[in-house]
Amino acid sequence: MNQELWMAVDKYFSQAFLPSDAALDHALQASQAAGLPPHHVAPNQGKLLQLLAQIQGAKRILEIGTLGGYSTIWLARSVLPNGCVVTLEVNPQYADIATDNIDRAGLAEIVDIKVGKAIDSLRQLVKVGVEPFDVIFIDADKPSNPDYLHESLKLSRPGTVIIGDNVVREGEVANAACADPKVQGVRHFCELIALDPRLSATAIQTVGSKGYDGFAIARVLY
Ligand code: SAH
Ligand code: DHB
Ligand code: MG
Repeated sequence: MNQELWMAVDKYFSQAFLPSDAALDHALQASQAAGLPPHHVAPNQGKLLQLLAQIQGAKRILEIGTLGGYSTIWLARSVLPNGCVVTLEVNPQYADIATDNIDRAGLAEIVDIKVGKAIDSLRQLVKVGVEPFDVIFIDADKPSNPDYLHESLKLSRPGTVIIGDNVVREGEVANAACADPKVQGVRHFCELIALDPRLSATAIQTVGSKGYDGFAIARVLY
């Protein structure tokens, strides 16, 4: 088992299930050309996010970590009529690239990019009392995941689905002694989810073009 094989299988599934799409292709190309880090979800993972949002019947989606807007486009295309995606990004240059990518996808009306530290934007959303979100995708700086979970719960309703990306980190999540603050953030995140009686959750390991990683999924029960 190796990365080359995982890439080949991802390519096979992407070709089989994901017809090439001008707006998504452009978003990846423009992000790369602008020097953004290659931290976007893989195409088949973007489709999974979209399917989960559709299965959920999502109208309001919150994303923490926009980058070039690649996952945002998948999510924005999944919302019900008159739905929206609020996406949070700290880096104004990334937010500009994302804005352009989202415009080109014809989704400008659906997506609201809030530029600033996600924790500040989240607290502001809580403060103004926005309607709860149906899906929340947590995919920004991993050391802050525990704080993002805390605020996300205040922006949830019974039935909200919370998805956390990158919870495996090449298996380091199972290494309690790991000194990497990203790994510790993800471990604390998982522990908080597991201990919260309001949440029903699991986590899944993935391999593919993004290496060896995984995601956690939690459903808010009450
Ligand atoms: N969801 C994107 C990838 C996000 S990568 C996709 O799959 O296409 C993580 C993003 O989180 C980066 O753009 C980074 O700038 C942003 N980020 C990091 N720290 C942040 C913070 N404190 N607040 C908001 N965004 C942050
Ligand atoms: C990192 C962040 C991501 O969201 C991702 O999908 C891959 C890597 C990172 O910060 O290392
Ligand atoms: Mg990620």
